[in-house]
Amino acid sequence: MGIKPKTEIKAEMYTNDEGSLDFEVLELDTSWAFEKADTRYLTHDIHRYPAKFIPQLARRIIEEYSEKGEIVLDPFCGSGTALLEARLTERNAIGVDLNPVAYYVSKVKTNPIEPRKLKRMWEEFSKKLSPLFGFTKVEPYPLPEKALEVLSAWIPEKQLQDMLRLFTLIVDVEDEQFREFLLVAFSNIQKNCSWWLMKSVKPTRDFNKKVPDVVPTFTKQVRKMIKKNNQLWEVLKNSKTWVKVFRGDTRKLSSIVTDTVDLIVFSPPYVTSYEYVDVHKLSIIWLEQVWELKELKRQFIGSVSARPKEIDVKSQIAKEIVEHLSKKDKRIAKAVKTYFEDMQLSFMEMDKVLKNRGVVSIVIGNTKLKGVEIKNAEVFAEMFIGMGYELERVVKRPIPGKNLPTVRDPKTGKFTSRKEQHVKVYPHEFILFLRKG
Ligand SMILES: C[S@@+](CC[C@H](N)C(=O)[O-])C[C@H]1O[C@@H](n2cnc3c(N)ncnc32)[C@H](O)[C@@H]1O
Repeated sequence: MGIKPKTEIKAEMYTNDEGSLDFEVLELDTSWAFEKADTRYLTHDIHRYPAKFIPQLARRIIEEYSEKGEIVLDPFCGSGTALLEARLTERNAIGVDLNPVAYYVSKVKTNPIEPRKLKRMWEEFSKKLSPLFGFTKVEPYPLPEKALEVLSAWIPEKQLQDMLRLFTLIVDVEDEQFREFLLVAFSNIQKNCSWWLMKSVKPTRDFNKKVPDVVPTFTKQVRKMIKKNNQLWEVLKNSKTWVKVFRGDTRKLSSIVTDTVDLIVFSPPYVTSYEYVDVHKLSIIWLEQVWELKELKRQFIGSVSARPKEIDVKSQIAKEIVEHLSKKDKRIAKAVKTYFEDMQLSFMEMDKVLKNRGVVSIVIGNTKLKGVEIKNAEVFAEMFIGMGYELERVVKRPIPGKNLPTVRDPKTGKFTSRKEQHVKVYPHEFILFLRKG
């Protein structure tokens, strides 16, 4: 199972004078930086997604720790970067994510449609977008009144009416794969065709924005996706591999058969960082036809509104971090405690589906909240070691800087895109390799 790395390092090599795990002491390994890598090839950039993997990074982990034909699981698959890299390197892959946007993007990204069939279906569909065909007479999709209310605060009237017509046409498409392909294109134009401030990771409106028309923006997006789909089809046309994507909660991996996965690779959500439901608010309203997002938000790991689980966190480092934080800010201490509880519950589920001697690889950065070091990497390693895993290797890699917010507002401790008073949050991150059994 997989190629063993040449340098096998034991957990003892990462312990400090107090006998606690400490990865900061490691030298940076620049061979994992992928600074100038092209991250947009094939279908990797069909949809925006925050904190995406660098494809080359996911690929290297997959190639070093699994064999062709084996099963790779990304339990926080997001936009499906690792899933696509698994197929490209002749592995099978399973992806899980709670976000409906992640579910559709991952499916479409990894399963290309036969180009001639796609061309035919698009020709037929695009005719309906023309005024000659009577696009303006298409019945606007009957979204619930409350959902419309929320959307109209974000989308100018003309654009909203066009989106409602376009949505009617999309949900009417019979071929499931093509319908999902169009839904991904529709989801990706939500931010363009609304007052959404493009640079913002939080829902923020920019009323000075010149909002483009829906049909040409959608058409351009579909054309780009067709081109990328066809390139991927060429690469995968003789492939026997498969990708399965589940929309679900990693704390309950019941759709995956136990002891079947060879390699687990992921980059987890961070605590009090992105609120994924907020980031994809407009898309989620369309895809799920819900408008009250509070309850959904609570289910996301790392959300400030996540519910405490009150389980015993099996990491001394985690306990110390929470204790230290509670002296500074009780609310943040509670959010961090809940985050560690949720991650532990996820790890227990991952353990059920992973084969004996299989590897878990986690790409994770440490951070600071209210002046307290949040040593995610050490906490996660400790949790897995506690479950009987062997810490086989830790890589400390420099971060090229564009995939994660790197600045925190010194006053609020929150991520900001403002350039003043820079405080680097993730100058580097860690890649952990933990072997089961
Ligand atoms: C750092 S992102 C992963 C990005 C991914 N590696 C990529 O390349 O796009 C973390 C993901 O965790 C997901 N997530 C948060 N809570 C979850 C949960 N309880 N179950 C499953 N996924 C969850 C978020 O929706 C988000 O997509």
